[in-house]
Amino acid sequence: MRVVLLCLLGCALGPALALDNGLNAKPALGFNTWNAFYREIHEDLVKEHADLMVSLGLRDAGQYLVLDDCWSERSREEGERLQASKEKFPSGMKAMGDYIHAKGLKYGIYSDAGTLTCAKYPGSLDHEELDAQTFAGWGVDYLKYDNCHVRRDRWVIDRYAAMRDALNATGRPIVYSLCEWGVMEPHLWAPQVGNSWRTTEDIRPWWDSIVKTLDYNVGLSRFAGPHLGWNDLDMGNDTGLSHAEQRTHFALWALLKSPLMIGHDLRDFSKTSLGILLAKEVIAINQDDLGVAGDLVWRQGTKRVYAGPLAGGGRAVVLANFQTTYSQYPATNITVFWTQVGLQPGQRVAVRDLYAGGCTTWWCCA
Ligand SMILES: *[C@@H]1O[C@H](CO)[C@@H](O)[C@H](O)[C@H]1NC(C)=O
Ligand SMILES: *[C@@H]1O[C@H](CO)[C@@H](O)[C@H](O)[C@H]1NC(C)=O
Ligand SMILES: *[C@@H]1O[C@H](CO)[C@@H](O)[C@H](O)[C@H]1NC(C)=O
Repeated sequence: MRVVLLCLLGCALGPALALDNGLNAKPALGFNTWNAFYREIHEDLVKEHADLMVSLGLRDAGQYLVLDDCWSERSREEGERLQASKEKFPSGMKAMGDYIHAKGLKYGIYSDAGTLTCAKYPGSLDHEELDAQTFAGWGVDYLKYDNCHVRRDRWVIDRYAAMRDALNATGRPIVYSLCEWGVMEPHLWAPQVGNSWRTTEDIRPWWDSIVKTLDYNVGLSRFAGPHLGWNDLDMGNDTGLSHAEQRTHFALWALLKSPLMIGHDLRDFSKTSLGILLAKEVIAINQDDLGVAGDLVWRQGTKRVYAGPLAGGGRAVVLANFQTTYSQYPATNITVFWTQVGLQPGQRVAVRDLYAGGCTTWWCCA
């Protein structure tokens, strides 16, 4: 009797408690400055990247341009307000946002739930209301909120919830992207706090890091969804990956419904493939209306099958051979049984290679 009662309560309260800022329907898409530029960001570079997002076609594929750490002065101004670095952003952060908005993009910024950011600029702990108002006044649409320089006596959920409430109080819808690195199992509480939550430490530009991130996320898909928010597997930085690894990376991030934040220098695609980042049908899997994140459904040795349902009854499936020795991929066959991906045995379906741009559709099988 008691067990039944608890279950009903949980079911009734669950959805109502999730963050409601109207921005949960889809994982965010865009570009973030950190992996490509670290501390070396400035006004002209950001403007150039806003222009490039438009000219490369990334405005359609991704709409948030996020300035990561190192945009501010080392200290707050008199009156405690955060201020733009006078050297790097002489026109100020409002003007930066106006430029980004004029390009039809949305404006993302960064702060930290501690006393200092990771690069030791002022953090927002105990300044949440003022900082949220400052960001809203600058026209900010997205906040990445990091977890460096925290005080041990301040509970992580409280620190993150304080900024949630401060953002809400501004009245401006702002995507709230939690970057707590998965240390306190954010999938269990973050749906009530933010629109997405990082599930792991920072990604690195090599295949081992991709695999580690994926392994950590196995089983977490059920905590994501349009009424909850999204597991964030961190942004791309594929400069150290082979073409096949890049394709695998992007396809799986899309299928797992991670926010897709590009981390490449957009001026230089010599080492990465723009074609992958612009693959419309792959991005469409990420932005699918059903909003159910896929997960690992089968694994044997280095072979894996990931799958998830789509609006309209389809299935997104990734067959991947994870075996890699310095980017050598021995050819292998992987068999998928329909029941593994939630189809009826013997059901006839159209199969489509989403990277092939519609060139390969065939009818299949058992
Ligand atoms: C603030 O929170 C309330 C209650 O959850 C919600 O209805 C409203 O849309 C939120 N406003 C913003 C700007 O996030
Ligand atoms: C991103 O890739 C570049 C080039 O390989 C590398 O220099 C940089 O350290 C990477 N950034 C991160 C955060 O891993
Ligand atoms: C994959 O399967 C096909 C068809 O059965 C077979 O001809 C081919 O040799 C297999 N390839 C590998 C690498 O096992």
